[in-house]
Amino acid sequence: MKISVIGCGYLGAVHAACMAELGHEVVGVDVDQAKIDALAEGRAPFFEPGLPELLVSAGATGRLRFTTDMPGIADAQVHFIAVGTPQKDGGHAADLRFVDAAFAAVVPHLADGSLVVGKSTVPIGTAARLAEILAETAPQATLAWNPEFLREGFAVNDTLTPDRLVYGVPAGVEGERAARLLDEVYATALAANTPRIVTDYATAELVKVSANAFLATKISFINAMAEIAEATGADVTQLADAIGHDARIGRRFLNSGLGFGGGCLPKDIRAFRARGEELGLGASLDFLGEVDAINLRRRDRMVELTREALGGTVAGKRIAVLGLAFKPDSDDVRDSPSLDVASRLHKEGAVVLVTDPEAIETARRQHPELSYVPTVGEAVAGADVVLVLTEWKLYRDLAPAEFEAASGRIILDGRNCLDPTRWRSAGWVYRSLGRP
Ligand code: UGA
Repeated sequence: MKISVIGCGYLGAVHAACMAELGHEVVGVDVDQAKIDALAEGRAPFFEPGLPELLVSAGATGRLRFTTDMPGIADAQVHFIAVGTPQKDGGHAADLRFVDAAFAAVVPHLADGSLVVGKSTVPIGTAARLAEILAETAPQATLAWNPEFLREGFAVNDTLTPDRLVYGVPAGVEGERAARLLDEVYATALAANTPRIVTDYATAELVKVSANAFLATKISFINAMAEIAEATGADVTQLADAIGHDARIGRRFLNSGLGFGGGCLPKDIRAFRARGEELGLGASLDFLGEVDAINLRRRDRMVELTREALGGTVAGKRIAVLGLAFKPDSDDVRDSPSLDVASRLHKEGAVVLVTDPEAIETARRQHPELSYVPTVGEAVAGADVVLVLTEWKLYRDLAPAEFEAASGRIILDGRNCLDPTRWRSAGWVYRSLGRP
């Protein structure tokens, strides 16, 4: 099929490349010329495992193009809108500026019988609003909402082999046609028996925000248990293992520590709650305020733990921070808990040496005041305390012997990703969030 993808960020670039890999003819569009130039040359503008290889292999088929030129999408049958929906400045609601702009830019180029497919995470009611506009301005086309569930770090795999497909479509024959077109787009996944749910717009929008709300709640649940464990001498990691064996609970997304960050979970739960309030249903989603608060408390606790470990103040102390990305296998530092902690320690007067395998440049743009070093060795040299704040495999595998150059022997594990026995037996003080 001929497909366009509007927005070539973490979601759109991966979607475009994967669709081409699956045999479609794809044009990716973005307003950012530098991003388009990189993609057109087969270079990923951000770190995502597998994407560079995919850009090269899909590019070699001649089926993948990138452009800033909107009219270039005119012969596509299906147009995906994959732009960001960040948090509004000064508020909790989602900023729909980019969705609205992308939609307005697509409308003049819609061929007869074409389909516009929203992938961006939006407040409930957005698709119905856009469908009304489409009915007036381009009645020859239809709107569908097809939320995306990919995780950064696993984006290529999640897109090529999704765990489910959700289509929000209008009622009647128009909706049936839209579902048939989406079935063609996702023919490979459907042939592999991927579950497919065809529903209305509101349900499709709700599936996405409620899935992220559930995941955020699960993480904050275990982090609330970590607070209890900390005060009572219990071990939250053993607790997670033990309750996780109950298949109804499950062990995934029960890793306690510094909590969730990134460009999705934090802003999505806030936007969801804001939308609930607009709908007069604030009480139904009030708990998400608690989920957010528990999550943010973990960062406070990490700063406090660092102060405690250094005898009450961090001022003038040398602190090594390993990990800046909001999670491993990403260079994304949007709402990164580790970067937040590093910058707070800096504000309290510490000399903070930070490193990350991939996120130094993205972090530097947000926090130029921190001292960036390329290696763990340089970060820990002379450090009074070492903080592991993003659980990159590289850091999980480090041995105490590699930290000889540190001046203190204190390690603070913000992700419960190190083996306490190993560090303690090497003479280190090991402390973490939620373990004795
Ligand atoms: C999340 C969802 O997992 C995806 O399904 C969704 O498609 C995506 O948002 C989105 O809306 O686009 P992502 O933001 O890539 O994906 O990252 P996650 O793997 O969900 O991790 C989010 C945060 O939670 C990270 O900071 C991670 O460190 C933290 N986390 C995750 C925990 O603290 N504990 C866990 O057990 C799991």
